[in-house]
Amino acid sequence: MTHALALLLALAMQPPTSPPADTTAAAAPAAAEAPAATPADDDCLMCHSDKELTTTLGNGETRSLFVDPATIKASVHGGALGCLDCHAGFDEMPHPTTSFQTKRDVSVAFQEQCTHCHFATFKKTLDSVHHVAQARGDTTAPLCTDCHGAHNVASPSKPRSRISQTCAKCHAGISTVYSKSVHGKALVDDDNPDVPTCTDCHRSHDTAGPHESDWRAHTPEMCATCHGDKQVMDKYGLSVAVHQTYLTDFHGVTARLRGSRDDSSMPVIARCTDCHGVHDITKTDDPNSPVLKANLQKTCQRCHEGATESFPDAWMSHYEPSWSRTPLVYAVTLGYKFLIPFMIGGLILQILLHIWRVVVNR
Ligand code: HEC
Ligand code: HEC
Ligand code: HEC
Ligand code: HEC
Ligand code: HEC
Ligand code: HEC
Ligand code: HEC
Ligand code: HEC
Ligand code: HEC
Repeated sequence: MTHALALLLALAMQPPTSPPADTTAAAAPAAAEAPAATPADDDCLMCHSDKELTTTLGNGETRSLFVDPATIKASVHGGALGCLDCHAGFDEMPHPTTSFQTKRDVSVAFQEQCTHCHFATFKKTLDSVHHVAQARGDTTAPLCTDCHGAHNVASPSKPRSRISQTCAKCHAGISTVYSKSVHGKALVDDDNPDVPTCTDCHRSHDTAGPHESDWRAHTPEMCATCHGDKQVMDKYGLSVAVHQTYLTDFHGVTARLRGSRDDSSMPVIARCTDCHGVHDITKTDDPNSPVLKANLQKTCQRCHEGATESFPDAWMSHYEPSWSRTPLVYAVTLGYKFLIPFMIGGLILQILLHIWRVVVNR
């Protein structure tokens, strides 16, 4: 309902003078038609290159109206968009009167322009946790321009570490924790393309979070997109059995049975993140790793209150039995591999011998 309403509003508010833009198709920005920079920009800059030019907001604050053309030129829109593509109607002199009370009002009004050309992206944002926050009146939830800037829009994922820096503007605590994790360190230090950044898990426009039960229920699959990919994991010498073994284990079976019916009123089931952490995931041999042998008992105790020191041993964890990790289980498994064919073979042989005896002795 609210989404449909917002869409209608956006369409209704589109000024007739807006640039040729693809507002219907699920168009990528590349498909949006970019009008060439107009000489009209110089007209605007006659006044707006004046560093002293200011205006006063309804709340009494003064705001600079200085625009540095070099900033726009260096942005992704540089050379492609003119002032009027984003400020339709401002070629009128004097300008149409505006009555902005706060700086935030200005941002809300002007970000409308972004949505005309990037309509598909805008539609996605209506499904985000941020839109939910906006809808309940939270003015700190991000507009396009909070994440991308206005005159200085840069390529949002080049370098890839720019993504977590973008989210860090408001989620500073989580971003700091993330940057120290096994994933974040690899991204920040080595620009590693294989590790997840904020948007791989939460998405950038239809951003989802832990209060969406469906999203939460699917977090193991989220981890598995990479941790089940042999080509990627071989590079790091990591096992790809972690997801499959999880699914066949009691925790995974329960999680799967419950599916997206999961909500906070139900007892927690162990998901990947309950044992490994979320934004603070470490290497499994890190001294702080919650799954290091020395810390494992405490990790299990979060849900299995009476877990003793040997409790974790009862669990085979992620590994398929191997000689180096679980020699006894491995030996037994191997034993069965020979023993069972041997016994069945023996049984058949015995029956055949019986039949032979019966036939021969008749
Ligand atoms: C003759 C000088 C002059 C020219 C030319 C000019 N502007 Fe302005 N502009 C102003 C002034 C003065 C203000 C402040 C208006 C006010 O306080 O209501 C302003 C305000 C603005 C604002 C902010 C509106 C607000 O209320 O916050 C925008 C956006 C803007 N101009 C864009 C443009 C664009 C785009 C052009 C070129 C098409 C342009 N201007 C040309 C003088 C000019
Ligand atoms: C890609 C779209 C885009 C283009 C191109 C663009 N602007 Fe803006 N402009 C914006 C947005 C969005 C804001 C609101 C910024 C905010 O949220 O504070 C803005 C704000 C302004 C303001 C208000 C003062 C301020 O900085 O907040 C002025 C004046 C202005 N623009 C003038 C211009 C002029 C002159 C040009 C051309 C040289 C231009 N703009 C090109 C999107 C654009
Ligand atoms: C008049 C149409 C138009 C308007 C208005 C507009 N854009 Fe764009 N935008 C484009 C075009 C065209 C491109 C270039 C696409 C390309 O080269 O891939 C682009 C590129 C981008 C990119 C980079 C895409 C990439 O893949 O690197 C971002 C981010 C972006 N715009 C955000 C914004 C924001 C934020 C606003 C509002 C302040 C805005 N745009 C306003 C047309 C527009
Ligand atoms: C919460 C921050 C955030 C908000 C709000 C946001 N974006 Fe983005 N946007 C991103 C990030 C991060 C990327 C990089 C894509 C990625 O790797 O996920 C991106 C990518 C883009 C791109 C490049 C093409 C693509 O989809 O990958 C465009 C164009 C764009 N955004 C436009 C917009 C517009 C228009 C709005 C407002 C309707 C908006 N964005 C709102 C964070 C945001
Ligand atoms: C301009 C500030 C701002 C930026 C930038 C921003 N967020 Fe948010 N974010 C918020 C606000 C405000 C909320 C709502 C908080 C609440 O519900 O308590 C929120 C909520 C969230 C939630 C849901 C939290 C919950 O408890 O349900 C997630 C997930 C999230 N943001 C991820 C991101 C990601 C990923 C990025 C970067 C692509 C990002 N945010 C960028 C302000 C921001
Ligand atoms: C590997 C996947 C992954 C990555 C990468 C990731 N998150 Fe999360 N995030 C999660 C999961 C899973 C939860 C839910 C945790 C829970 O259920 O307690 C979560 C929860 C959140 C929340 C809401 C809960 C809270 O603690 O307030 C926010 C906000 C958030 N993440 C933002 C971010 C930001 C910003 C980044 C990038 C710096 C990021 N996330 C990177 C998976 C991830
Ligand atoms: C976008 C791909 C991707 C996603 C999604 C992802 N990871 Fe990773 N993860 C990696 C890569 C690549 C490494 C190896 C990084 C390195 O060693 O530099 C890694 C490392 C790890 C490690 C450390 C292993 C070790 O001992 O070295 C753990 C534990 C881990 N991830 C758990 C998770 C969990 C839990 C999730 C889901 C919440 C998850 N990962 C989501 C790519 C991913
Ligand atoms: C009940 C706790 C628990 C759950 C749930 C869990 N793990 Fe683990 N994980 C461990 C332990 C303990 C280890 C340490 C390895 C060992 O010695 O057995 C480990 C090791 C790992 C490793 C390192 C593998 C290697 O080759 O060194 C990765 C990656 C990993 N887990 C990812 C995941 C993913 C992805 C999920 C969800 C699909 C998950 N884990 C669910 C406890 C858990
Ligand atoms: C986030 C909570 C949580 C964590 C952490 C957790 N478990 Fe569990 N575990 C459960 C739940 C809930 C069940 C019951 C599942 C069912 O009934 O199918 C369960 C069941 C089990 C069972 C099956 C037998 C029984 O007691 O029901 C074993 C064995 C087990 N867990 C071992 C472990 C080990 C070892 C660890 C630590 C490495 C661990 N668990 C960590 C929630 C957790």
